[in-house]
Amino acid sequence: MARFELGETLFTTDEIAVRVRDLARQISRDYEGEEILMVGILKGAFVFLADLARCITAPVRFDFISCSSYGSSTKTSGVVRLQKDLDTDIADRHVLVVEDIIDTGLTLSYLLKNLEARGPASLEICSLLNKQVPGKADLEIRYEGFSISDVSIVGYGLDYDESYRNLPYIAALKK
Ligand code: PRP
Repeated sequence: MARFELGETLFTTDEIAVRVRDLARQISRDYEGEEILMVGILKGAFVFLADLARCITAPVRFDFISCSSYGSSTKTSGVVRLQKDLDTDIADRHVLVVEDIIDTGLTLSYLLKNLEARGPASLEICSLLNKQVPGKADLEIRYEGFSISDVSIVGYGLDYDESYRNLPYIAALKK
């Protein structure tokens, strides 16, 4: 297995905090007078979700969903399987799906279809990072933190082999 170490910092703790507050301001404005059901996609989204939610002024409830795509650790096969479903009935609820990163977009394409079929009042995506990769699934991302190039990164919820999720900033992985 290839060995990796931490490379350059791509987004500092302060840069992330500023962007998270911006997104929260936008979300609070858009959902004024409505309750948001924030759906975190496990596991990577938990850090971003916790920080984002604490800056949102609209009323918020939480649920979590977990899915996996078959394939190697670095290449997805495009087949997504639900591992943990929501506890909540989302019919007529304003659902905001929160992701740490969108890579190929396959996970979210699958999830959005699945959630849309349950009849939410609205369904939007908020992702901290959006990776620019060729052949990406066509997704409408209402709230995007940062657009990034196709590099391997860790920190702020993102892992390499389950490590580094607790880094308070986002760094590249160096081979
Ligand atoms: C990552 C990330 C997204 C997904 C994006 O999760 O958190 O859920 O991959 O990839 P895609 O756009 O190509 O589908 P991962 O499967 O690594 O699980 P984790 O959140 O537990 O780290």
